[in-house]
Amino acid sequence: VSYGQSSRGALIVFEGGDRCGKTTQCRKLVERLRSQGVDAVMWRFPDRSTSIGQAINAYLVEQSHMDDAVAHLLFAANRMEKREEMLRLLSGRTTLVVDRYSYSGVAYTAAKGVPHLSMDYCRAVEVGLPAADLVIFMDMTAEATAARGGYGQERYEKVDFQQKVMKAFEALRDERWAVIDASGTIDDIHQKVAAVAEPVVQRALAGSALGRLWD
Ligand code: TMP
Repeated sequence: VSYGQSSRGALIVFEGGDRCGKTTQCRKLVERLRSQGVDAVMWRFPDRSTSIGQAINAYLVEQSHMDDAVAHLLFAANRMEKREEMLRLLSGRTTLVVDRYSYSGVAYTAAKGVPHLSMDYCRAVEVGLPAADLVIFMDMTAEATAARGGYGQERYEKVDFQQKVMKAFEALRDERWAVIDASGTIDDIHQKVAAVAEPVVQRALAGSALGRLWD
């Protein structure tokens, strides 16, 4: 496990509001990279398969109530429990394409506006995880995603809350983010995704240094 400069896989993260099409684009990017001979796998957070993930799932489908801080810490813990495996895969030159990551962790909790869960606090509990080489932000208004099928089934799928999440995401943007209009066709979006992702994968394979949250 190394943050130094040796050939490695890239950490590519998709972010955005609920129902913006992230999952479809993650799959298509992984397929494309594999067809080019790049070792790539898709992950998603929350990972609902672990025991922490099952507690998160019960919370999201509103089968359980949790204090906001506890929910926040469980989402973070659900990434921490995957930290070693992530670093192992990256150093073994596997590119990880991840459907949501720490940026969702911060944006969704910060959007709640709970005074003791400030953006700084939310960021602090993610320290120790690798930073994404590229965050592909699927840009779409809360109103447009709400019009999509299946919307409203989970806890956070409410237009007024999603608008606050979008503001929180804006505050997290830096030079590693690529903002892509998520309202186009699946194939148009995929071409834009490929154009930003492929050079990042090549740079990682050539040995670009892996960053840390929140350097
Ligand atoms: P999903 O629909 O992508 O599986 O995400 C489930 C929900 O959990 C979505 O509304 C975003 C939210 N979420 C958080 O609140 N914190 C987190 O750390 C992550 C990864 C997701």
